[in-house]
Order: sequence, then structure tokens, then C-alpha cells
Amino acid sequence: MTMIFKKLDDGFEIPIIGLGTWLQKNEPECINAVKSALDIGYRHIDTADIYENHGYIAKAIKGFTREKLFITTKLWKDFMDPKQVESQCDKCLMQLNLDYLDLYLIHWPDRTKPMNDIIYQMTKLKERGKVKSIGVSNFTINHLQDILHQGLKIEMNQVEFHPFLNQPELLDFCNRHAIAITAYSPIARGNVFHDPDINSISVKYKRPANQIALRWLLQKDIVAIPKATSKEHLESNFKIFDFQLDPDDMKKIDNIGFTRPKRLINPEFADFEY
Ligand SMILES: NC(=O)c1ccc[n+]([C@@H]2O[C@H](COP(=O)([O-])OP(=O)(O)OC[C@H]3O[C@@H](n4cnc5c(N)ncnc54)[C@H](OP(=O)(O)O)[C@@H]3O)[C@@H](O)[C@H]2O)c1
Repeated sequence: MTMIFKKLDDGFEIPIIGLGTWLQKNEPECINAVKSALDIGYRHIDTADIYENHGYIAKAIKGFTREKLFITTKLWKDFMDPKQVESQCDKCLMQLNLDYLDLYLIHWPDRTKPMNDIIYQMTKLKERGKVKSIGVSNFTINHLQDILHQGLKIEMNQVEFHPFLNQPELLDFCNRHAIAITAYSPIARGNVFHDPDINSISVKYKRPANQIALRWLLQKDIVAIPKATSKEHLESNFKIFDFQLDPDDMKKIDNIGFTRPKRLINPEFADFEY
């Protein structure tokens, strides 16, 4: 299966499908999932400081050619201090046993903290070669506007995006400002298997619901990071490059988000406008 890459605005390329690792806290399970994913052809791993699995990922990727991997991790909200940006990045690099990150994201926005100074410090990490690209996660258009007004540049916004949370305004805004989107919870944490419209499209294409949802994202040029543990799930999520959804079916899936919207990740500290 040939992987598709998305070019970021700074010229680096991110594999359009990556492996999510949230809740992969069990060492053998996490190592197995990452190793199986690499065997299948995944080259992009998404983690975060708060997932507490950097060390397991380090073990799983040991010996693999570094340049062929794309590793993302995230600055946790407890360390939203410009003075801590570099030491937090160094901590992640040490735990992952890497000398650079492909992508470093601010995990959650926090308007009570100096976001722009933090992003400025992240741009310094780029200059020092500790990270290739920088970005944010869970940022709304308003949060992004604050950054852009300061003349700061980011390459990625990682947000919840799936058929029940279709975000065309955010996607359009990011496209206009050359900010790529990564969809987290791209198969809606399994909810796609229970939707009648997705199920009928699934029957039409003879493809499981997870592949329909991931293909819908791919055709919108959105990077997706499904989390899976078993080899069967990992393989299935990777088999999305050999079929295409018709424009009518794309629209049908677009409409699910308008008729049956559902945000799955909304912790009390989140700052979403809708
Ligand atoms: N930036 C953020 O704030 C944020 C928030 C949430 C998530 N994320 C990232 O996004 C990743 C993905 O999101 P997610 O874990 O919330 O949800 P998801 O990827 O939409 O769904 C994961 C669930 O679906 C199951 N699954 C995966 N592939 C399947 C398949 N082919 N058939 C049937 N079931 C399948 C998994 O089971 P098994 O594990 O048993 O295979 C797991 O229970 C996370 O792991 C994390 O890296 C980021």
C-alpha cells in the first residue's frame, strides 16, 4: 500500500495516516501496536507527554531509520510557560530517545497563559534543530487568529474531526492560512460503526465503516491518526488508498455532522466556542 504524504507549509512532509497512541499505557501492548504498525507500513506516530508512553515508543522504534519516521508529541497544559518550553521539549526528546521531533504541538489552548510567547519559544526550537515543525491542538478559529495577528507561524492544528464533527469553517480557515489539519478520534472512537448513513455507504463500497471515515478525511486532504491495538484494526485503518468515495457520498457524510453533531473530547478545561 503506497502512503500519501501531505506537504506542510515549511516544506516538511507528514504521512497522511499515523498511529494514535492515547491510552496505550500498557508497555507490551503499546510496543506491540507500534511495532506492528511499522511492519504494516505506518511511519507516523502520534503521542503526547500526558500519554505517558514515550519510553515504550522509544523501545518500539529502536533501530528504525530515523529519517523515515514522523514523530509528533505535545506540550502538556501544566507546562504552559515560555521558560519551560525548551526543557519540556528536551524531556520528550530524552524519553523518546530522539534528537529531534518532527512535530511539536501545544496540546490545549489556555487564554490565561502567554500563548504567543510560548509559540515564539517553539519557533526557537525549530531554529535550534530540536523540532522540524510546530503547531497547536484543540485551537478554534479565534485562538488561531490570536497567533496569526502576532505574525507567528505554525504548521499544524490537531483537532477532533470525524463524520459527527465536520468542521468546514475551521478547515477553510486553516487552508487559507496554510495550516494543515490532523484529525484526532478520526473514527469517532468506534461510533462510525453505528451510523446508518455510514453503514449504507459501507455496504455500497464493500468497505468497513472505519475505512469510509478515514477515506472521507483523506479526500479532504486531512491527516488522520486512528488509534488501534490489534494487527487486524491497524491493517484495516491503513487500507484506504485503493478506493475513492463519489462526490455524492462525500456530501452524505458531510451532512452527518450537521444533522447528528457529536463532540467526543470535551474536558472541563477545554475552550471550545461550540
Ligand atoms: N490532541 C488531542 O487532544 C487528542 C485527543 C484525543 C485523541 N488524540 C490522538 O488521536 C488518536 C486517535 O483518537 P482516539 O484514540 O480518541 O479515537 P479513534 O482513533 O477514533 O478510535 C480508537 C478506537 O477505535 C478502535 N478501532 C481502531 N481501529 C479499528 C478498526 N479498524 N475496527 C474497529 N475498531 C477500531 C480502537 O480499538 P483498539 O485499540 O482495541 O484497536 C479504539 O477503541 C489518539 O490515540 C491520540 O493519539 C489527540
